[in-house]
Amino acid sequence: MVKKAIVVGCSVLSLAFAGVAFAAGAESIVLKGGAPGNVTFPHKLHQEKLKDCNLCHKMFAKEAGSIEKDIASGKMKKKDAMKMCIDCHKATKAKGQPSGPTGCSECHKK
Ligand code: HEC
Ligand code: HEC
Ligand code: HEC
Repeated sequence: MVKKAIVVGCSVLSLAFAGVAFAAGAESIVLKGGAPGNVTFPHKLHQEKLKDCNLCHKMFAKEAGSIEKDIASGKMKKKDAMKMCIDCHKATKAKGQPSGPTGCSECHKK
């Protein structure tokens, strides 16, 4: 029993360290979603599940407001980021893995 408690204790600790390693940035970020309403993006969940920052940040910088900035400067088009979100959710769903929303009103809230 003592052994079991130690093992459980260690895995809780390593989870806590993983949390620290991936803790850059806000837990969740509200993105401007235009007419259908803003999108609340669970950033920390994606950092923890996907691990690879570049899956998203090769498209835009690790800065608050970087998507809007890139759209304003013409580096990104409106909905480029959205397409990236939906493409990945569709692909992971097709593989039968836990995935995210693909329906408009599941992401956009008024
Ligand atoms: C699934 C996509 C995705 C992944 C993976 C991801 N991010 Fe982000 N990140 C975003 C989005 C979207 C924003 C918001 C950009 C904006 O405000 O325009 C953001 C913003 C940020 C910001 C600035 C906002 C803040 O809260 O400070 C930092 C720092 C950041 N990310 C760091 C990281 C790091 C480090 C990783 C890898 C461990 C990572 N991100 C992985 C999508 C992602
Ligand atoms: C996985 C989440 C997600 C889903 C599903 C989604 N969107 Fe989005 N949408 C976003 C994000 C994030 C943005 C803001 C970033 C961008 O412009 O790429 C956005 C931006 C938009 C914009 C604003 C573009 C502009 O004018 O600035 C419109 C309009 C839009 N979405 C419509 C839709 C419609 C219609 C659907 C359903 C067919 C849909 N979205 C499904 C996440 C989503
Ligand atoms: C590279 C793949 C990938 C990208 C890009 C991605 N997601 Fe996800 N998303 C996932 C996966 C995988 C999950 C399921 C995580 C889990 O619950 O295990 C998920 C889950 C979600 C959820 C549900 C969270 C919950 O609490 O159940 C939302 C909302 C979401 N994503 C929004 C977004 C938005 C908005 C974007 C774009 C800014 C985005 N995602 C980009 C892979 C991705």
